[in-house]
Amino acid sequence: MSEICVQGCRPLTGEINIQGSKNGVLPMLAASVLQRETLKFTNVPIIQDVLCMVGILESVGCCCRWDGHSLSIDASGEIYGEIPRKDVGKMRSSILLMGALLGRTGRAVTWQPGGCSIGSRPVDLHLLAFSRLGAVVSEDEEGKIEASAKELTGSMVYFPFPSVGATENALLAAVLARGKTVIEGAAREPEIISLCQLLRRMGADICGEGSSRIEVCGVERLFGTVFDVPGDRIAAGTYLAAVAGAGGHVRILKGPWEFMQEEIRVFRQIGAEVEPISSKTGEVCGIELWMEKRPKAISLSTGPYPGFPTDLQSPMLAVLSRAEGISQVREAVFEARFKTAGQLQKMGAQIEVSGNCARIFGQERLLGARVQAMDLRGGAALAAAALAACGETMITDCIHIERGYEDICRDIRLLHGEICWVQKK
Ligand code: EPZ
Repeated sequence: MSEICVQGCRPLTGEINIQGSKNGVLPMLAASVLQRETLKFTNVPIIQDVLCMVGILESVGCCCRWDGHSLSIDASGEIYGEIPRKDVGKMRSSILLMGALLGRTGRAVTWQPGGCSIGSRPVDLHLLAFSRLGAVVSEDEEGKIEASAKELTGSMVYFPFPSVGATENALLAAVLARGKTVIEGAAREPEIISLCQLLRRMGADICGEGSSRIEVCGVERLFGTVFDVPGDRIAAGTYLAAVAGAGGHVRILKGPWEFMQEEIRVFRQIGAEVEPISSKTGEVCGIELWMEKRPKAISLSTGPYPGFPTDLQSPMLAVLSRAEGISQVREAVFEARFKTAGQLQKMGAQIEVSGNCARIFGQERLLGARVQAMDLRGGAALAAAALAACGETMITDCIHIERGYEDICRDIRLLHGEICWVQKK
């Protein structure tokens, strides 16, 4: 397990080429088993969750080959429908393979991925979608989940909550089903849009992505292609938050400006200046942020896209911990996503959590301390808090951070932040 050491209280200035999107690429990797050729992805983030998904793809019969940040997946051989239980425990997103395995083989077996530190995270809506498409779904007392169907048939799928993963699984199961599927109450996240762009390039017939109603007309076959993974909006938002908290100036190249409008509105509300970066041809190719002053206190609620992303709630807690005044943050997506507040309190933050709301009484400066990463985005939030704090901070259990950030120390050092990995003694 690695630790991170940070010397804080210095402004951050520099430029980062943001990594490819973790939450964008994971469903796309699942889609690779839907075709019998080779899918090549470029700008793939080399992170633990991707390495884990590659391991699962190989265990079901794919041949995967890396070339720098490009990843080719050959699914021309026999594909097996069962995901090894050991892999499910390592990564919840293994559930995303179910829809694609069902579409490819007519059978998908995995295991209840279980809750994590941000909530119970059930998969009932995923299984609802498979049932609506005609699959027989069963769960045994050990948590083994099986879905099977001689042939999937297009249908109406209605989600009472716009679940990102369930929408992705419904799409992956519907693209080879017989007939038309309508997904009502679909998630509208940019990761849904990029998945549909990939599937369409593979030969799928999809329309409506980005809205809450997506229509899929099943096709006979899908084909290999090449696809560039978009920039990671959450990693970009994390580094923007770090600079908003510590002060300074950052340019995030490939930061997806068009899909970060709510985050940009919030950063401006706390007093940052935020502008798009344009290329020589006039295309927007990134995001630039300046922060000269102490952040202002605000009220904020997370929500499904286009609301403020729940994945940036913890980094915003870190920023608001030193805001002028009292801020309120409401977590409207997961039921237990304030665990990092306890770690921020070790650094002197004054945060009161009650249910899904937190009140933050801003302090001029936090103080360096020894803190523990409780989950992926919480760990990144602690790094952001440490960069704005006085003194040295040690962050333990950084394996969480490595799941979603290629190298948070490398990126923050590009901003001239004093941060490094410390191997545990
Ligand atoms: C995706 O998780 C992301 N993960 C999460 O990012 C992100 O926080 C989340 O979407 C919301 O944007 C990936 O894309 C790999 P949901 P997912 O299904 O699909 C409830 C990160 O840090 N729900 O939209 O699991 C669920 O309990 C991660 O990168 C059900 O009740 O999120 C939660 O309260 C964390 N039944 C809410 O919906 C279901 O069948 C949102 O979950 C499914 C979900």
